[in-house]
Amino acid sequence: MTERIVLAYSGGLDTSVAIGWIGEATGAEVIAVAVDVGQGGESLETIRQRALGCGAVEAYVADASDEFANEYCMPTLKANALYQGHYPLVSAISRPVIVKHLVKAAREFGATTVAHGCTGKGNDQVRFEVGIQTLGPDLKCIAPVRDLALTRDKAIAFAEEKGLPIETTKKNPYSIDQNVWGRAVETGYLEDIWNAPTKDIYDYTATPEFPPAPDEVTISFVAGIPVAIDGVKVTPLQAIKELNRRAGAQGVGRIDVVEDRLVGIKSREIYEAPGAMALITAHKHLEDITVEREQARFKATVGQRWAELVYDGQWFSPLKRSLDAFIDDTQKYVTGDIRMTLHGGQAIVNGRRSETSLYDFDLATYDTGDTFDQSMARGFIELWGMSAKVASGRDIRVAGQ
Ligand code: ARG
Repeated sequence: MTERIVLAYSGGLDTSVAIGWIGEATGAEVIAVAVDVGQGGESLETIRQRALGCGAVEAYVADASDEFANEYCMPTLKANALYQGHYPLVSAISRPVIVKHLVKAAREFGATTVAHGCTGKGNDQVRFEVGIQTLGPDLKCIAPVRDLALTRDKAIAFAEEKGLPIETTKKNPYSIDQNVWGRAVETGYLEDIWNAPTKDIYDYTATPEFPPAPDEVTISFVAGIPVAIDGVKVTPLQAIKELNRRAGAQGVGRIDVVEDRLVGIKSREIYEAPGAMALITAHKHLEDITVEREQARFKATVGQRWAELVYDGQWFSPLKRSLDAFIDDTQKYVTGDIRMTLHGGQAIVNGRRSETSLYDFDLATYDTGDTFDQSMARGFIELWGMSAKVASGRDIRVAGQ
């Protein structure tokens, strides 16, 4: 029986050529797998037809946009996950859901190998292959760009020679990855890290310098998950989409960073994640009133570690799973409303309310009638400073000897 390979297929030039390229290099039959994670653009049916036109023996297409929003974006939101304090893990969280579908397709069509279009320099090859190793340990991995010398020039020549139904002339100097959680743009002119991004780079966000009138929005959460916007019930996917539109119109969520890749390279990336950044901001502010201080402090550390694990391709790892359990536990009371103004590139919170809030007006107020007994403070401070005071006494004594 001819060997079968499932290929993560985007519909673009490189993976379209990869279908025939892999076939010629290995003699295997190629099954194209296209997964909708809310990236927009062409319909899954158009992509399916192109895959078949490029020589795939079968094409598996899956609308995973709700699955992606519910099971990948929402945990990222609950963790307030920002890799290196900036990056909301746009590409990093899409790989595991694509992996799930690749493994499912491999089982359905009796494939022995999984292929993807990543280069040998990035994080995504790691995320794909570590995911495959975990969910389908018997499956082999192959990356035509990395393992079968499929360069851009060769891809264009191959497509033209074989008359593949794909455009080879459209010139985009950037490498772009996008889904409903955000968009990542790199390479070309951006590789000089002193170069400011030009306007044409952006697609999810309008220029914040010339914003429309301020847009006030109220987001309601239940246990850390957005459930309504301005009182209208939404699913997680709808919440992200609606805020992509409204925060995007105000230029919210533009990020320009040099980040540490897993493979040891520092690389420049431009992100736009208007919905994700608006949601994370609102969610964090709701946590500020509903999560107890020590739990909140510890959760910040956990969230940072969670972001690193996910960035580093450990989505299916035991530690990530354990951290999820901790984070979920902290979300029990993260229920309530956040009001924020979206304007000129910023999402600024200006109101919060919650039935499960820990904010106690009577304790906090400076007006008469407060219930906080200020006389307790003196003794508390005395004891709080005791340890450092004893140590400093020792330092003075030793220095004087
Ligand atoms: N640097 C990001 C990450 O590793 C995005 C990778 C894909 N970016 C791209 N422009 N193709 O998660």
